[in-house]
Amino acid sequence: MRIILLGAPGAGKGTQAQFLMDKYGIPQISTGDMLRAAIKEGTPLGLEAKKVMDAGQLVSDEIIIGLVKERIAKEDCAKGFLLDGFPRTIPQADAMKDNGISIDHVIEFDVADEIIVERMGGRRVHPGSGRVYHVVYNPPKVEGKDDVTGEDLIIRDDDVEETVRKRLGIYHDQTKPLVSYYQAEADAGNTKYHKLDGTQAVDAVSQQLAELLG
Ligand code: AP5
Ligand code: ZN
Repeated sequence: MRIILLGAPGAGKGTQAQFLMDKYGIPQISTGDMLRAAIKEGTPLGLEAKKVMDAGQLVSDEIIIGLVKERIAKEDCAKGFLLDGFPRTIPQADAMKDNGISIDHVIEFDVADEIIVERMGGRRVHPGSGRVYHVVYNPPKVEGKDDVTGEDLIIRDDDVEETVRKRLGIYHDQTKPLVSYYQAEADAGNTKYHKLDGTQAVDAVSQQLAELLG
C-alpha cells in the first residue's frame, strides 16, 4: 500500500505515521526526518538544509525529489510506503507521476491554523527515531523521555511561533494546491482521496484511518 499523508505542519502526519507503520508494516518516508538526520550528521546537505528549515522555508524540489527517489528504490519499500511531508509542491507531485510511482491513498488532515500554533508549542520529539509527543495531548510515559529508548526528548528548532506561522503561510501557498491536484487524480481513477478531521483526538484519528484503509 502506498499512502501520502497531506496536511499542514502540525496537522498530525508524523503522529499517525507511527500508527500506520505499526499496523500495516510499511516504512515511513518523512522528508523532514531525513533532512534532520542530515543536519545531525553535518553532511553538506544538512548544512544547507538547516538554514532553510530554521527559516521555515522549503528545501529545493531538486534535492528533495532526489532524496525520495533514492529512498523509494530501497528494498523495504517494495510492499509499500507512507509518504509524510512529501510531496509538498506541484513539481514534487509531478516527479512522482513522471517516474511512474502510483499512489493508492491520499489522506488530507484538516486542522485550523490556530489549533496548529497551539499544538506546536507543546510538541516534543525523539531525535533518533522521529517519534512525536505532546506535553498535554500525547504525553510520554515519563516526562521528557522517549517511551521506547528512555532517551531525552527535544523541542524542534523550527517550532517557535514565528517560524510556525511562516511554515503555515508556505503551506497555504505551495502545498494546499495539491488538494485539488490529488482530487483530480482521484476523479480520473488514479488514486483514492480521503479528507479527515484532524482536530479529533489522536486515537479517534487513528481509528478513522484504520476504517478507511481497511
Ligand atoms: P516536516 O518535518 O515535514 O514538518 P511539517 O510538514 O512542517 O510537519 P510537522 O512535522 O511539523 O507536523 P506533523 O503533521 O508531522 O505533526 P505531528 O504529528 O508532529 O518538515 C520540516 C521542514 O523540512 C520544512 O519546513 C521544510 O523546510 C523541510 N522539508 C520537509 N519536507 C520537504 C519537502 N517535501 N519539500 C521541501 N522542503 C521540505 O503533530 C504535531 C503536534 O501535535 C505533536 O506534538 C503531536 O503530539 C500533536 N498532535 C498530533 N495529532 C494530534 C491530535 N489529533 N490532537 C492533539 N494533538 C495532536
Ligand atoms: Zn512531522
